[in-house]
Amino acid sequence: MIISVPKESGAIERRVALTPDVVKRLVKQGHEVRVEKDAGLAASYTDEAYAEAGAKLEPDAGALWREADIMLMVGRPEGEIPQMKDGAILVGMLFPLSNPDLVEKLARAKVTSFSLDQLPRISRAQVMDVLSSMSTVAGYKAVLMAAAHHGKFMPMLITAAGTIAPAKLFVLGAGVAGLQAIATARRLGAVVSAFDVRPAVKEQVESLGAKFVEAEALESEGEGGYAKELSEEQHQKEQELLHNHMKNMDVVITTALIPGKPAPELITEQMVKDMPPGAVIVDLAAETGGNCALTEKGETVVRHGVTIMGPLNLPAGTPVHASQMFATNMFAFLGSLFDKEGQLNLDFEDEVVEGTCVTHEGRVVHEATQQATEGVKAS
Ligand code: NAI
Repeated sequence: MIISVPKESGAIERRVALTPDVVKRLVKQGHEVRVEKDAGLAASYTDEAYAEAGAKLEPDAGALWREADIMLMVGRPEGEIPQMKDGAILVGMLFPLSNPDLVEKLARAKVTSFSLDQLPRISRAQVMDVLSSMSTVAGYKAVLMAAAHHGKFMPMLITAAGTIAPAKLFVLGAGVAGLQAIATARRLGAVVSAFDVRPAVKEQVESLGAKFVEAEALESEGEGGYAKELSEEQHQKEQELLHNHMKNMDVVITTALIPGKPAPELITEQMVKDMPPGAVIVDLAAETGGNCALTEKGETVVRHGVTIMGPLNLPAGTPVHASQMFATNMFAFLGSLFDKEGQLNLDFEDEVVEGTCVTHEGRVVHEATQQATEGVKAS
């Protein structure tokens, strides 16, 4: 099999789908790995390192796309799909539910595509879970951004110039990103509190040394261990709870998401107004609408004396380790596409294959994508 890796084309993308270590493992399995020239450079993986790992460097992007049996990406292709051979495989984070045009092009080009953001969240798939890996990077980075923007130290300091109190940091939404934000803030010495509508996370929050803000009436857990949208009454109660709690906070990191829905708007303008001057909000939900009413996607703004950051693609800002984690997940995923002899064997009875395959033999085969695409056509 010719497994190829292009240079990613997204404007703020610095990650790469395979690292030299993982290339070495694929070459050992008998695959030919081709890497576009400079594909890993923005993530500090040099062409020399790929060549040493056994990859063939390809300076011609057109040839790379035309000849690949399997194309591996972090994000989505731009105009390259028509160049792919019939039956070629594409793996990446395609976000098919919100990219119907891309899905249509993939089906038309008879590309068999897999979207890693659609992996089922089952134990066996944890090792392939790119969303968890990227959320880990984002949670870590969000705290560093807040620390860099705030006018205060994070830890308590006892100095000859007096004792300095630690910063108070609040994490809203304690999923994968939120828990990593808590752990990072604790390592920096902040006093950390957190809230989530899923009561199951209380123990995890406390085990990281943070205080869980209790609110029984706000428990809301849906299918697969994910949060469910709150009722209007619960939403108002949550806003009251947050309003009171945030009045003392130096930093708020928000990560609240509901799968398949816009991010819940939890922080109102009034809550921002009532925060201490100089406070910082980092809104990790900015990409899907933001948890704060004043968030501007991709921008850092100052409103009522509070800095509100709405960063996009934070994992690309830590490209070395983000790529390392992504490539390790990708290697594990590829294991689901091959049999023991290293031959391609697509088993659609396998939850991982069925859950991630978007297009196959000219058709959209992914149920949720079919429904989303129908929705677009109907409107
Ligand atoms: P997510 O990115 O969908 O949401 C982030 C957090 O926001 C969640 O903890 C959610 O409960 C919270 N949230 C939603 N609405 C909220 C509101 N109104 N107020 C406060 N918080 C709110 O979640 P993520 O990080 O993807 O993880 C969700 C679940 O999936 C967790 O139970 C996690 O342990 C599980 N998981 C399972 C995996 C596996 O088994 N392969 C892999 C990764 C996560």
